Amino acid sequence: MSASFGLSPEVVRYLADVNPAEHAALARCRAETARLPMARMQISAEQGAFMQALVRMIGAKRAFEVGVFTGYSSLAVALAMRDMHGQTARLLACDVSEEWTAKAYEYWREAGVDGMIDLNLAPATETLDRRLQAREAGLYDFGFIDADKTGYDSYYERGLSLLRPGGVMVFDNMLWSGAVADPKDHSADTVALRSLALKARADGRVHVAMTAIGDGLMIVVKR
Ligand SMILES: C[S@@+](CC[C@H](N)C(=O)[O-])C[C@H]1O[C@@H](n2cnc3c(N)ncnc32)[C@H](O)[C@@H]1O
Repeated sequence: MSASFGLSPEVVRYLADVNPAEHAALARCRAETARLPMARMQISAEQGAFMQALVRMIGAKRAFEVGVFTGYSSLAVALAMRDMHGQTARLLACDVSEEWTAKAYEYWREAGVDGMIDLNLAPATETLDRRLQAREAGLYDFGFIDADKTGYDSYYERGLSLLRPGGVMVFDNMLWSGAVADPKDHSADTVALRSLALKARADGRVHVAMTAIGDGLMIVVKR
């Protein structure tokens, strides 16, 4: 979500003022995406800064992303990994939209991270399965999930297999603008998000923290 859920415009502006300045390509991505009808799908700037800090905390060198859109989150993660590892860092990017990811590619190229990103245009479950078949289980440090909500459980399972022990996966929109806390909301997306939250909490394979950053970030650390 392009602005964090539940924050006043004043607080959003304050966060922008005190967070590190966005890289020029991130700023262009945000400004140009704001003109698109689906602009609200983009993560907020403060969420991008938070994810960059997470990536740095664990020294991530290899990452995957499900849900690229116009590239803000992938660019933020790639820039943080490049700072630490140079061009040897790798990001597997999954999306189904040629139109939106063509924009993402422009920003990746502007920032010089295009050579680090392997974009796969296919349903993400297929792409992640192909990577597991290619014996990449346990090789990834970080994953970000931000696509179709009813697919989250399948990304959770595949992502957990791809992560190394101690690797971190972040799930976006886990508050779904508050809908998950409305007992009358039984829509498919809301039910999928609620059931993943409960599943992760009880899952002995992971440590979990549910946060109210952005539209709700669930942070999963593989044991
Ligand atoms: C919320 S947007 C991602 C926003 C992005 N993370 C950002 O920072 O701007 C969701 C994206 O998921 C993609 N998507 C939807 N269903 C998908 C699927 N089954 N497999 C892969 N990508 C999918 C959409 O095309 C869209 O670009």
